Amino acid sequence: MENFTAYNPVHIHFGKQVIRELSKTVSQYGKNVLLIYGGGSVKKNNSYNDTISQLSKINANVVEYSGIKPNPLLEDVEKAIKLGIENKIEIVIALGGGSVIDTAKLVALCIPDNLEPWSVMKYRTIPKKTLPTIIILTLAATGSEMNSLSVIQNPETQEKIGVNNPLIYPNHAFLDPEYTFSVPKNYTAYGIVDLISHTFESFFAGGESHLADRFVQAIILETMRYGQLVLDEPENYEYRANIMWNATCALNGITAYGRSRNGDWGTHAVGHTLSFLYDIPHGASLSIAYPAWFKLQKNKIPERIKKLANLIFNTNSCDDFISKLEAFFRHIGAPIRLPEIGVDISKKDEIIALMIKNKITGFNVKIEEADYEKIVDLMFSI
Ligand code: NZQ
Ligand code: ZN
Repeated sequence: MENFTAYNPVHIHFGKQVIRELSKTVSQYGKNVLLIYGGGSVKKNNSYNDTISQLSKINANVVEYSGIKPNPLLEDVEKAIKLGIENKIEIVIALGGGSVIDTAKLVALCIPDNLEPWSVMKYRTIPKKTLPTIIILTLAATGSEMNSLSVIQNPETQEKIGVNNPLIYPNHAFLDPEYTFSVPKNYTAYGIVDLISHTFESFFAGGESHLADRFVQAIILETMRYGQLVLDEPENYEYRANIMWNATCALNGITAYGRSRNGDWGTHAVGHTLSFLYDIPHGASLSIAYPAWFKLQKNKIPERIKKLANLIFNTNSCDDFISKLEAFFRHIGAPIRLPEIGVDISKKDEIIALMIKNKITGFNVKIEEADYEKIVDLMFSI
């Protein structure tokens, strides 16, 4: 086991109607609230109305910034920072999934010193403070509600990248599984893929941590079980609750403690390339990228893949593991090859060119530049 520091300061409020604790929670931090949300799903379930009614109880001054899109854009971060500064915002609330949360986190980080957000994303500016952030989660997937990451896309530089900083941890996260009842089947499936992928990224970091391996095993097995159930019964509270908490635990640190790095993240980098180029939902990019990554790496790290194969599918064969994983992704309705989402082979060179430009690799099990064509071919099933 490698040395590590465990730190996670997020207060989680989990369960039915936990939003009732919002007004008391917000009032600890101030009255001037910037409320950030996406394209309108929050107005079709109760989450927006519940949030507004909690904020009106404490006579909060609420300024709204909406329209955050999946694969969130730097431009929205910049506009929301400006709005926040103009309105002397004291606290930022994110109401939505990972895209809204990541936007809100970066906005909160940049407001106090009016920082340039892309410079923060690239670690050219290191923030010294942040506004407090509160998350109201409506989609189980990224784990962003309980971690110190923000992932943002910049069309100008052709990058979708993440920044990690302990200041980014939200102060509070409200997780009511009922708010996820309305998530459509496709995004439910993408969330399942994403959370499983996060455990893979940890599993392929360096070092040995047997407890971490068991956390990975437990999260994947529970997710496969409840994932199938929740797709059949999207309004089943227990199923949604299990998927929601699995997603949070898949990227809140526990699967990485004891490893030499926080994760590999090479496959996520491939996925971000696809999302950037074709606006593919994050989880769908990973259900395509991961089978290809396993096929690419199976001769380089067969023992580690076999260990995972044993833990998850009770098999000693890498190929068997990969085909069972693909079958699971297919079963839940996630794509496993690029043509399934309308990206045809004519795009091959474009994908490779962006991988070269952004030096896609991974921290522990590297994807070498010489492998780019192979992994792209595998995503096309060549
Ligand atoms: O925009 P609205 O109308 O709200 O619709 C959203 C959006 O279209 C919809 N949705 C959300 N909650 C819903 C709902 N629809 C119905 N009912 C609800 N309750 O779902 C769509 C996708 O939302 P999005 O926030 O993009 O999804 P997700 O939570 O999967 O977030 C993906 C983003 O997070 C990043 C990804 O790269 C991607 O940009 N990630 C963030 C990480 C982190 N901060 O730790 C780690 C991850 O690996 C990932 O990179
Ligand atoms: Zn992810």
